[in-house]
Amino acid sequence: MQGRHILLGVSGGIAAYKSADLVRRLIEQGAEVQVVMTHAAQQFVTATTFQALSGRAVRTELWDAAAEAAMGHIELARWAELVLIAPASADCLARLAQGLADDLLSTLCLASAAPLAVAPAMNHLMWSHPATQANVAVLARRGVQLLGPAVGDQACGENGPGRMLEPHEIVARVAQLLPVHGPLEGRRVLVTAGPTREGIDPVRFVSNRSSGKMGFAVAQAMHEAGAEVVLVTGPVCLDAPPGVSRIDVESCEQMHAAVQRELPGTAIFIGTAAVADYRPMCCAEQKIKKRSDTLTLDMMRTPDILAGVSARPAATRPFVVGFAAETQTVEQNAHDKLLAKNLDLIAANEVGHTKAFDTEENALLVLWRGGRAELPHASKLALARALTRIIIERYLACEAARAMPADPACAGVSAPAAGAASTSAGASTSTSTSASTSAPPPARGTLAASS
Ligand code: PMT
Repeated sequence: MQGRHILLGVSGGIAAYKSADLVRRLIEQGAEVQVVMTHAAQQFVTATTFQALSGRAVRTELWDAAAEAAMGHIELARWAELVLIAPASADCLARLAQGLADDLLSTLCLASAAPLAVAPAMNHLMWSHPATQANVAVLARRGVQLLGPAVGDQACGENGPGRMLEPHEIVARVAQLLPVHGPLEGRRVLVTAGPTREGIDPVRFVSNRSSGKMGFAVAQAMHEAGAEVVLVTGPVCLDAPPGVSRIDVESCEQMHAAVQRELPGTAIFIGTAAVADYRPMCCAEQKIKKRSDTLTLDMMRTPDILAGVSARPAATRPFVVGFAAETQTVEQNAHDKLLAKNLDLIAANEVGHTKAFDTEENALLVLWRGGRAELPHASKLALARALTRIIIERYLACEAARAMPADPACAGVSAPAAGAASTSAGASTSTSTSASTSAPPPARGTLAASS
């Protein structure tokens, strides 16, 4: 955290006394901490305490001419690499959800492009109240990182969820949330993960065995490479990697809508999700009764999310990466998908009962026009990091090609599909890439792959 700029918002709650320890620990880690207190926070701890610990004058007022002359609130919002609010009271969460800007802290939250993390602290009934939960859901959808709350004894003498995380736990999370400086810094990456569920009736659905592990690992690796990552996921039992914004969906239709909504500004799209290719023609309103020995479901094609992204006009088309789940002739089928969906790159895996789906490990064959790389068996995170290195190299090559005459290896800048595939992946030199778990964060040009 050496030299990193953390803007610590302190709102009104008894847990504010712990924030003094939080400041001390952040400073110990080398961070520069600027404390901003709400009026309610000053009922619990004085600004002098925070000033002594942070070595900076505490800001409390939006309309403070002297403080504004030193560093205006917009300047302060720009200064922050992370905005952390600890404790975040119920009132503070509600104000953030509403987008209010009538005090310094709420104004800074609106005016800053830095990631926002909140550590809620309040009475357990206030935390469980539907109003607070609705506000928390709004904030989570916007990508605000929730740190806690913990469950336990409360200052009011009751017990339940609503305790602020301990300062050392918050510091550990903050270290993961600070934006990473990497080759994808400033780039937005959209990843789909997990299965989709296609409703048959209110209680039954068609789905598949995807656990989301591969997609979540890809999201983490992309974040480690410095990207702003949005993860659209079907129903899975996984926590989003720290620093990654998560959007939960259920059906292909919902995933399709979320991807369309999140796509503007996206530099790289990665379709890791196991999306249903067909869905029941209609979802019965009532539970289907077992009236006969057999039941026939009429199914219809779902929209192909990946192909839709790839077909966008060049000006709004990201670098497009697909996955191919194959039970046979993996390379040929994956190669056909690369061309048919006009992708920039495809990662193929052999799937089966104990292969790829819901496993800890996997192996990938990566194909692009004129190149291939084999990523041997490894943990999904190690594979995701190795895949990320290849994607970065190909993405940067295609970015360069955008500014140059058409490069036949880039789907987005060359003639469409089949015509552009002058060099088939099968005819290329094979490059085996080691997916070592100890590999350093992806860096530009680390893979010597043929193309
Ligand atoms: O989640 P895990 O348990 O970790 O398992 C990982 C995985 C096996 C699911 C993953 O590695 C994988 O292979 N994902 C792609 C699964 C898949 O649907 O493959 P496909 O060959 O059927 O589809 C090809 C591509 O089209 C995929 O990128 C898919 O996301 C996309 N697609 C498919 C259908 C559809 N309607 N829309 C799509 O976008």
